Amino acid sequence: MSLFGKMNKGGAQRYIGIDFGSFELKAVQFAPSPRGPLLEHVYKVPTPANAIKDGVITDPPLIGEALRQMIADGAFTAKRTVSAVAGPTVVVRQVTMPAMNERELLSSTKYEAERFLPYSVEEAQIDAKILGRSDDGQNMDVLIVSAQKDLVISQMAALAYVSLSPAVIEVEPFSLVRAMLAPDDAAFEQNIAIINVGASSTSINITKGGFVPFTRNVPIGGNAITKAIATGLNVSLEEAEKMKREKAAILSQRDSEPVAPTVTRIFNVITPPLTELVTEIHKSLDYFRTRFRGEVIESVILGGGTARLASLDAFLSHELALPVTLADPLGRATYNPADFPADYLRDMGPALMVATGLARRDLQIVSPQLAASA
Ligand SMILES: Nc1ncnc2c1ncn2[C@@H]1O[C@H](COP(=O)(O)OP(=O)(O)OP(=O)(O)O)[C@@H](O)[C@H]1O
Ligand SMILES: [Mg+2]
Repeated sequence: MSLFGKMNKGGAQRYIGIDFGSFELKAVQFAPSPRGPLLEHVYKVPTPANAIKDGVITDPPLIGEALRQMIADGAFTAKRTVSAVAGPTVVVRQVTMPAMNERELLSSTKYEAERFLPYSVEEAQIDAKILGRSDDGQNMDVLIVSAQKDLVISQMAALAYVSLSPAVIEVEPFSLVRAMLAPDDAAFEQNIAIINVGASSTSINITKGGFVPFTRNVPIGGNAITKAIATGLNVSLEEAEKMKREKAAILSQRDSEPVAPTVTRIFNVITPPLTELVTEIHKSLDYFRTRFRGEVIESVILGGGTARLASLDAFLSHELALPVTLADPLGRATYNPADFPADYLRDMGPALMVATGLARRDLQIVSPQLAASA
């Protein structure tokens, strides 16, 4: 084989997992190695203001410029990307349909999806995968995923702007599973809630055995907390963001230590959005338990940048009466400690769940794709 051929082959195995967050763009790249994928690059840059709304990139050239900066400063080398769409229009559904072949599947899926999509099939980007067939061969279980076309098209436009080629665009829930659970983990066969608390929204997902029978997106996240501090304490959004990171904490009657008056004031103003968030999470978990009777949710994995809000994990654990662990997706990966200090990866970790899972395409779980290129 020529050297060029080898280089091509090596290059083809590298992907940049890109998370188009509304607060920060985040990227992770692994290198193939004899011991499995080795962490090679991790980087994030601020998302230009108002350039991503409800999962749609409203200004692809502006996001393209931010991507360019992220790729250069993070020294990413791969040209192929794996990304995901997220937001209120993302639907993941498992349905039973009459048996048919792969060719007939997509057109039948569109017909089937009309029943449950909150938007028209014409506006939808849909994919489906056959999960299995019934013993008598009459029926089959099908996994359908859908998102509004705008989400996918706008992401492709931003990537094209910087000559990146999308190998895959999937939906966010599957990347969370790949980042946090492997088939040899004890929890893989349990119902685990993976909650991604971002800036503009939170996604609540329940996974078991590599499947995601439940996913929901609610428009509450770190932005609501920052706004509550800015309004309540009459400070700018920038100042509120700083206070949130340095002074905000969820106080509990179980704490006996006295706290500074500012900490109490911040706690009082962030309580309403936090209560709203917990209520939505509660509702989702209850819906799952009702819909899938007999299924028990064992624990919660908490990620997203807002997972770093002081004591959010303990607060959620108390409110939901479930064990909660803070996501450390890169702590699960193989890396050279000389290149990446463990505490740096742990601090960044919760926000990197999506990008890490996207970069781990080698982990096979059934994940339909909204766009793919050879
Ligand atoms: N130490 C911290 N304490 C509290 N909040 C934090 C901390 N660090 C980051 N955040 C918050 O995390 C949020 C960003 O999280 P993340 O990167 O997961 O969001 P995103 O993916 O860009 O947004 P979205 O998914 O909503 O589009 C911001 O609201 C930010 O203020
Ligand atoms: Mg996010």
